[in-house]
Amino acid sequence: MIISRTVQDVRSLSSVAKASGRKVALVPTMGYLHEGHASLIRRAREEAGFVIVSIFVNPTQFGPNEDLDRYPRDFERDRETCIRSGADAIFAPSVEEMYPAGFSTFIEVEGGMTRFLCGARRPGHFRGVATIVGKLFIAAQPDVSVFGQKDAQQAAVVMKMTREMGLPVRIVVSPIVRESDGLAMSSRNSYLTPEERLAAPLLKRSLDDAAELFHKGERTTEKLTEAVLRRLAGSPLIKPDYVEIVDNETFEPAARITERPVCLAVAAYLGKTRLIDNLVLGVEK
Ligand code: PAF
Repeated sequence: MIISRTVQDVRSLSSVAKASGRKVALVPTMGYLHEGHASLIRRAREEAGFVIVSIFVNPTQFGPNEDLDRYPRDFERDRETCIRSGADAIFAPSVEEMYPAGFSTFIEVEGGMTRFLCGARRPGHFRGVATIVGKLFIAAQPDVSVFGQKDAQQAAVVMKMTREMGLPVRIVVSPIVRESDGLAMSSRNSYLTPEERLAAPLLKRSLDDAAELFHKGERTTEKLTEAVLRRLAGSPLIKPDYVEIVDNETFEPAARITERPVCLAVAAYLGKTRLIDNLVLGVEK
Protein backbone atom coordinates (compact mmCIF):
# COMPACT_ATOMS: atom_id res chain seq x y z
CA MET A 1 0.00 0.00 0.00
CA ILE A 2 1.45 3.33 -1.07
CA ILE A 3 0.99 6.10 1.50
CA SER A 4 1.18 9.59 0.13
CA ARG A 5 1.24 12.68 2.36
CA THR A 6 1.66 15.55 -0.09
CA VAL A 7 -0.26 17.00 -3.02
CA GLN A 8 2.83 16.80 -5.21
CA ASP A 9 3.30 13.13 -4.39
CA VAL A 10 -0.33 12.07 -4.99
CA ARG A 11 -0.38 14.01 -8.26
CA SER A 12 2.69 12.20 -9.52
CA LEU A 13 1.23 8.81 -8.43
CA SER A 14 -1.86 9.63 -10.44
CA SER A 15 0.04 10.70 -13.52
CA VAL A 16 2.26 7.60 -13.44
CA ALA A 17 -0.89 5.41 -13.24
CA LYS A 18 -2.47 7.30 -16.15
CA ALA A 19 0.74 7.06 -18.19
CA SER A 20 0.53 3.27 -17.82
CA GLY A 21 -2.96 3.38 -19.35
CA ARG A 22 -4.93 3.04 -16.13
CA LYS A 23 -7.94 5.08 -15.05
CA VAL A 24 -7.63 6.66 -11.61
CA ALA A 25 -10.43 6.53 -9.02
CA LEU A 26 -10.55 8.56 -5.83
CA VAL A 27 -12.60 7.63 -2.76
CA PRO A 28 -12.64 10.68 -0.47
CA THR A 29 -13.09 9.78 3.23
CA MET A 30 -12.45 11.18 6.68
CA GLY A 31 -11.11 7.82 7.85
CA TYR A 32 -12.34 5.49 10.61
CA LEU A 33 -13.39 3.31 7.72
CA HIS A 34 -16.24 0.83 7.98
CA GLU A 35 -17.93 -1.59 5.62
CA GLY A 36 -19.72 1.30 3.89
CA HIS A 37 -16.35 2.79 2.91
CA ALA A 38 -15.09 -0.66 1.92
CA SER A 39 -18.00 -0.92 -0.51
CA LEU A 40 -17.05 2.48 -2.02
CA ILE A 41 -13.47 1.25 -2.49
CA ARG A 42 -14.66 -1.98 -4.12
CA ARG A 43 -16.88 0.07 -6.43
CA ALA A 44 -13.90 2.31 -7.29
CA ARG A 45 -11.91 -0.84 -8.07
CA GLU A 46 -14.58 -1.82 -10.63
CA GLU A 47 -14.32 1.62 -12.22
CA ALA A 48 -10.56 2.11 -12.42
CA GLY A 49 -7.16 0.41 -12.54
CA PHE A 50 -5.67 2.62 -9.83
CA VAL A 51 -7.63 3.42 -6.65
CA ILE A 52 -6.65 6.16 -4.23
CA VAL A 53 -8.44 6.54 -0.88
CA SER A 54 -8.03 9.94 0.75
CA ILE A 55 -8.15 10.05 4.54
CA PHE A 56 -8.45 13.57 5.84
CA VAL A 57 -10.60 14.91 8.67
CA ASN A 58 -11.47 18.18 7.01
CA PRO A 59 -11.68 20.99 9.58
CA THR A 60 -13.51 23.44 7.29
CA GLN A 61 -16.67 21.33 7.12
CA PHE A 62 -17.18 21.24 10.91
CA GLY A 63 -19.10 23.99 12.73
CA PRO A 64 -17.63 25.54 15.90
CA ASN A 65 -19.72 23.32 18.21
CA GLU A 66 -19.36 20.13 16.20
CA ASP A 67 -17.22 17.04 16.74
CA LEU A 68 -13.96 17.91 14.94
CA ASP A 69 -11.81 17.32 18.04
CA ARG A 70 -13.34 14.00 18.94
CA TYR A 71 -13.86 12.68 15.39
CA PRO A 72 -12.66 9.04 15.61
CA ARG A 73 -9.31 8.16 13.99
CA ASP A 74 -7.45 4.87 13.52
CA PHE A 75 -4.95 5.02 10.68
CA GLU A 76 -3.61 1.47 11.08
CA ARG A 77 -7.09 -0.06 10.90
CA ASP A 78 -7.93 2.19 7.92
CA ARG A 79 -4.79 1.02 6.13
CA GLU A 80 -5.86 -2.60 6.60
CA THR A 81 -9.37 -1.85 5.32
CA CYS A 82 -7.88 -0.17 2.24
CA ILE A 83 -5.65 -3.17 1.54
CA ARG A 84 -8.51 -5.64 2.09
CA SER A 85 -10.86 -3.67 -0.17
CA GLY A 86 -8.44 -3.37 -3.08
CA ALA A 87 -7.09 0.20 -2.88
CA ASP A 88 -3.65 0.95 -4.32
CA ALA A 89 -2.78 4.11 -2.42
CA ILE A 90 -3.82 6.23 0.55
CA PHE A 91 -3.57 9.99 0.39
CA ALA A 92 -3.39 11.21 4.00
CA PRO A 93 -2.23 14.82 4.02
CA SER A 94 -1.77 17.01 7.09
CA VAL A 95 -4.05 19.99 7.74
CA GLU A 96 -1.12 22.29 6.84
CA GLU A 97 -0.69 20.50 3.50
CA MET A 98 -4.32 21.13 2.51
CA TYR A 99 -4.74 24.49 4.25
CA PRO A 100 -1.37 26.25 4.40
CA ALA A 101 -1.08 29.33 6.66
CA GLY A 102 -3.08 32.23 5.23
CA PHE A 103 -5.40 29.95 3.19
CA SER A 104 -8.48 31.92 2.15
CA THR A 105 -9.87 30.43 -1.08
CA PHE A 106 -13.14 28.51 -0.90
CA ILE A 107 -15.57 26.84 -3.29
CA GLU A 108 -19.20 27.48 -2.45
CA VAL A 109 -22.31 26.07 -4.10
CA GLU A 110 -24.67 28.93 -3.31
CA GLY A 111 -28.41 28.92 -2.63
CA GLY A 112 -30.69 26.21 -4.03
CA MET A 113 -29.75 22.79 -2.76
CA THR A 114 -27.48 24.03 0.03
CA ARG A 115 -30.32 25.96 1.72
CA PHE A 116 -32.14 22.85 2.93
CA LEU A 117 -31.57 19.75 5.07
CA CYS A 118 -27.97 19.67 6.37
CA GLY A 119 -27.24 22.93 4.53
CA ALA A 120 -29.75 24.73 6.76
CA ARG A 121 -28.69 22.97 9.98
CA ARG A 122 -24.91 23.09 9.50
CA PRO A 123 -23.96 26.56 8.17
CA GLY A 124 -20.72 26.46 6.17
CA HIS A 125 -20.67 22.66 6.06
CA PHE A 126 -21.10 22.28 2.29
CA ARG A 127 -18.69 25.13 1.62
CA GLY A 128 -16.09 23.09 3.50
CA VAL A 129 -17.05 19.90 1.66
CA ALA A 130 -17.03 21.53 -1.80
CA THR A 131 -13.67 23.16 -1.08
CA ILE A 132 -11.92 20.02 0.13
CA VAL A 133 -13.40 17.81 -2.59
CA GLY A 134 -12.35 20.38 -5.20
CA LYS A 135 -8.85 20.44 -3.72
CA LEU A 136 -8.67 16.64 -3.60
CA PHE A 137 -9.73 16.44 -7.25
CA ILE A 138 -7.10 19.00 -8.24
CA ALA A 139 -4.47 17.11 -6.23
CA ALA A 140 -5.25 13.51 -7.23
CA GLN A 141 -6.68 14.24 -10.69
CA PRO A 142 -9.05 11.25 -10.67
CA ASP A 143 -11.09 10.20 -13.71
CA VAL A 144 -13.84 9.01 -11.39
CA SER A 145 -14.73 9.53 -7.74
CA VAL A 146 -17.08 7.46 -5.59
CA PHE A 147 -19.40 8.88 -2.89
CA GLY A 148 -21.95 7.22 -0.63
CA GLN A 149 -25.73 7.60 -0.99
CA LYS A 150 -25.97 7.98 2.81
CA ASP A 151 -24.73 11.55 2.34
CA ALA A 152 -27.14 12.09 -0.56
CA GLN A 153 -27.16 15.89 -0.33
CA GLN A 154 -23.34 15.93 -0.21
CA ALA A 155 -23.24 13.80 -3.37
CA ALA A 156 -25.62 16.24 -5.10
CA VAL A 157 -23.51 19.23 -4.03
CA VAL A 158 -20.31 17.52 -5.23
CA MET A 159 -21.91 16.71 -8.60
CA LYS A 160 -23.03 20.31 -9.08
CA MET A 161 -19.67 21.71 -7.99
CA THR A 162 -17.78 19.34 -10.29
CA ARG A 163 -20.00 20.15 -13.25
CA GLU A 164 -19.96 23.90 -12.73
CA MET A 165 -16.21 24.11 -12.07
CA GLY A 166 -15.63 22.06 -15.23
CA LEU A 167 -13.61 19.40 -13.40
CA PRO A 168 -13.18 16.30 -15.59
CA VAL A 169 -14.28 13.83 -12.91
CA ARG A 170 -17.19 11.39 -13.20
CA ILE A 171 -19.09 11.09 -9.92
CA VAL A 172 -20.44 7.67 -8.95
CA VAL A 173 -22.91 7.32 -6.06
CA SER A 174 -22.88 3.98 -4.30
CA PRO A 175 -25.77 2.51 -2.21
CA ILE A 176 -26.07 2.83 1.58
CA VAL A 177 -24.56 -0.09 3.49
CA ARG A 178 -26.49 -1.06 6.62
CA GLU A 179 -25.93 -3.06 9.78
CA SER A 180 -28.10 -6.20 10.05
CA ASP A 181 -30.70 -4.22 12.05
CA GLY A 182 -30.96 -1.55 9.35
CA LEU A 183 -28.79 1.19 10.88
CA ALA A 184 -26.88 2.97 8.12
CA MET A 185 -23.14 2.54 8.64
CA SER A 186 -21.37 5.68 9.79
CA SER A 187 -18.11 6.47 11.57
CA ARG A 188 -20.25 8.43 14.04
CA ASN A 189 -22.12 5.26 15.13
CA SER A 190 -19.07 4.63 17.35
CA TYR A 191 -20.20 7.55 19.56
CA LEU A 192 -23.49 5.83 20.49
CA THR A 193 -24.04 4.45 23.99
CA PRO A 194 -25.43 0.88 24.09
CA GLU A 195 -28.95 2.29 24.73
CA GLU A 196 -28.69 4.77 21.86
CA ARG A 197 -27.35 2.04 19.60
CA LEU A 198 -30.45 -0.05 20.35
CA ALA A 199 -32.73 2.88 19.47
CA ALA A 200 -30.82 3.97 16.33
CA PRO A 201 -32.41 1.49 13.84
CA LEU A 202 -35.68 3.40 14.31
CA LEU A 203 -34.33 5.88 11.75
CA LYS A 204 -34.45 3.26 9.02
CA ARG A 205 -37.74 1.85 10.30
CA SER A 206 -39.28 5.33 10.15
CA LEU A 207 -38.23 5.62 6.50
CA ASP A 208 -39.69 2.18 5.81
CA ASP A 209 -43.02 3.26 7.31
CA ALA A 210 -43.14 6.21 4.91
CA ALA A 211 -42.12 3.97 1.99
CA GLU A 212 -44.97 1.60 2.82
CA LEU A 213 -47.47 4.48 2.75
CA PHE A 214 -45.92 5.71 -0.50
CA HIS A 215 -46.33 2.28 -2.10
CA LYS A 216 -49.96 2.26 -1.01
CA GLY A 217 -50.43 5.48 -3.01
CA GLU A 218 -49.79 8.28 -0.51
CA ARG A 219 -48.21 11.26 -2.32
CA THR A 220 -48.52 14.16 0.11
CA THR A 221 -45.21 14.98 1.76
CA GLU A 222 -46.99 15.96 4.99
CA LYS A 223 -48.47 12.48 5.51
CA LEU A 224 -45.17 10.79 4.70
CA THR A 225 -43.08 12.96 7.04
CA GLU A 226 -45.73 12.50 9.76
CA ALA A 227 -45.24 8.74 9.48
CA VAL A 228 -41.49 9.16 9.98
CA LEU A 229 -41.96 11.42 13.02
CA ARG A 230 -44.52 9.04 14.52
CA ARG A 231 -42.05 6.15 14.42
CA LEU A 232 -39.18 8.29 15.77
CA ALA A 233 -41.40 9.35 18.69
CA GLY A 234 -41.28 5.68 19.74
CA SER A 235 -37.96 6.34 21.49
CA PRO A 236 -37.36 9.13 24.01
CA LEU A 237 -33.65 8.92 23.08
CA ILE A 238 -34.27 10.22 19.55
CA LYS A 239 -34.63 13.95 18.89
CA PRO A 240 -35.44 14.61 15.23
CA ASP A 241 -33.44 17.43 13.64
CA TYR A 242 -35.26 17.36 10.31
CA VAL A 243 -37.52 15.12 8.26
CA GLU A 244 -37.91 16.50 4.77
CA ILE A 245 -38.80 15.44 1.27
CA VAL A 246 -36.78 17.04 -1.50
CA ASP A 247 -36.49 16.59 -5.23
CA ASN A 248 -33.84 13.91 -5.72
CA GLU A 249 -31.87 16.02 -8.17
CA THR A 250 -32.23 19.64 -7.11
CA PHE A 251 -32.53 18.87 -3.39
CA GLU A 252 -35.15 21.59 -3.08
CA PRO A 253 -38.33 20.84 -1.11
CA ALA A 254 -41.07 18.93 -2.92
CA ALA A 255 -44.55 19.89 -1.71
CA ARG A 256 -46.23 16.95 -3.42
CA ILE A 257 -44.73 13.96 -5.12
CA THR A 258 -45.62 14.08 -8.78
CA GLU A 259 -43.45 13.11 -11.71
CA ARG A 260 -39.94 13.13 -10.32
CA PRO A 261 -38.26 10.88 -7.73
CA VAL A 262 -37.79 12.44 -4.31
CA CYS A 263 -35.39 11.89 -1.46
CA LEU A 264 -36.94 11.42 1.97
CA ALA A 265 -34.18 12.53 4.33
CA VAL A 266 -33.98 12.34 8.10
CA ALA A 267 -31.49 13.68 10.63
CA ALA A 268 -31.81 13.02 14.34
CA TYR A 269 -29.84 13.39 17.54
CA LEU A 270 -29.24 10.48 19.86
CA GLY A 271 -27.64 12.23 22.81
CA LYS A 272 -24.91 14.39 21.26
CA THR A 273 -24.62 12.18 18.17
CA ARG A 274 -26.30 13.36 15.02
CA LEU A 275 -27.18 10.63 12.51
CA ILE A 276 -28.61 10.96 9.02
CA ASP A 277 -30.36 8.52 6.70
CA ASN A 278 -32.48 8.69 3.54
CA LEU A 279 -34.55 6.81 1.05
CA VAL A 280 -35.30 7.60 -2.57
CA LEU A 281 -38.96 7.26 -3.54
CA GLY A 282 -39.47 6.84 -7.25
CA VAL A 283 -42.76 7.49 -8.92
CA GLU A 284 -44.52 4.43 -10.22
CA LYS A 285 -46.31 5.10 -13.47
O1 PAF B 1 -18.20 12.14 3.44
C1 PAF B 1 -17.10 12.44 3.96
O2 PAF B 1 -16.45 11.62 4.61
C2 PAF B 1 -16.57 13.85 3.78
O3 PAF B 1 -17.59 14.78 3.82
C3 PAF B 1 -15.69 14.02 2.54
C4 PAF B 1 -16.48 13.80 1.25
C5 PAF B 1 -14.53 13.04 2.59
C6 PAF B 1 -15.11 15.43 2.49
O4 PAF B 1 -14.33 15.69 3.60
